[in-house]
Amino acid sequence: MKDLEEFFADSSRIVDEKLNELIAAVETEPKRLYEAVRWSVFAGGKRFRPALVLAVGEIFKANREKLLRAASAIEMIHTYSLIHDDLPAMDDDELRRGRATCHVKFDEATAILAGDVLQSIAFRSIAADGNLPDAIKVKLISELAASAAAMVEGQQLDLDAEGKTVSIGDLETIHRNKTGAMICVSARAGAIIGEASEKELNAVSDYAASLGLLFQITDDLLDVTQTTEVLGKTAGKDVSAEKATYPAFYGLEETRKFAERVYAQAIDSLKEIEKDTRLLKELADFILDRKK
Ligand code: IPE
Ligand code: IPE
Ligand code: MG
Ligand code: MG
Ligand code: MG
Repeated sequence: MKDLEEFFADSSRIVDEKLNELIAAVETEPKRLYEAVRWSVFAGGKRFRPALVLAVGEIFKANREKLLRAASAIEMIHTYSLIHDDLPAMDDDELRRGRATCHVKFDEATAILAGDVLQSIAFRSIAADGNLPDAIKVKLISELAASAAAMVEGQQLDLDAEGKTVSIGDLETIHRNKTGAMICVSARAGAIIGEASEKELNAVSDYAASLGLLFQITDDLLDVTQTTEVLGKTAGKDVSAEKATYPAFYGLEETRKFAERVYAQAIDSLKEIEKDTRLLKELADFILDRKK
């Protein structure tokens, strides 16, 4: 675990440096927009998705310089999704990453625009990456666009399901889209930049698809079991909003067992990769047992 902590600390530091370089300074006009962007990006998220880009890239011996813009772009799209997810029209949350949500600190219009511009900066950051050949950049942009669209589709399905009884299949579709897609593309980006073989890329995708589902299952569990203080976002919101979640469907005990099974699927996919995948196993362990 010590190694993983060091890996996270190191990857967060270099990703934050790259984000700081790619996102306009607070003095840039319109100041309110970039203040809002920076308020949400630099609020201390776990930086799990960029860490996954770096972890997978490392396995395929990709140089970190080649991975950093893609990793930062994915964190930008993730942060945009959180800013919009918190809006009154969506989950209506007032706390995120331990501080006021973007629309509370600024206003709704600014929060919408901060999310919008983050998505634009993300794609431009990859397009203007001087460390990658055009063919790889086009593949990354195309995959990231598809995954960001899947995330939006998942968000729509999540809202449509509020207050309704959904099937277990529908619930899985919501989770794989709203959360799984961005986690899957994080791992794929690392493998694409590392020029993994088709077989390896498929195995990485299988691993990350399970990991992405697991991530949202544990997010659902934490919403019920963890405190607002530790989470840095208001706990217990899923029940009050009548969200379609695994604990609502199965109860806590069964959800924990289901999480173990999805974790086992993630680990099983790693067998197909003939490389040292210990770090990827540790990342899955971390998600299964995470406390926030
Ligand atoms: C929260 O994501 C939203 C989900 C997709 C479940 P994270 O738990 O990764 O949030 P941060 O980035 O650490 O704030
Ligand atoms: C959010 O799911 C997924 C995205 C932001 C795309 P949640 O609504 O459960 O995330 P939290 O709990 O607010 O972080
Ligand atoms: Mg939501
Ligand atoms: Mg939410
Ligand atoms: Mg949640």
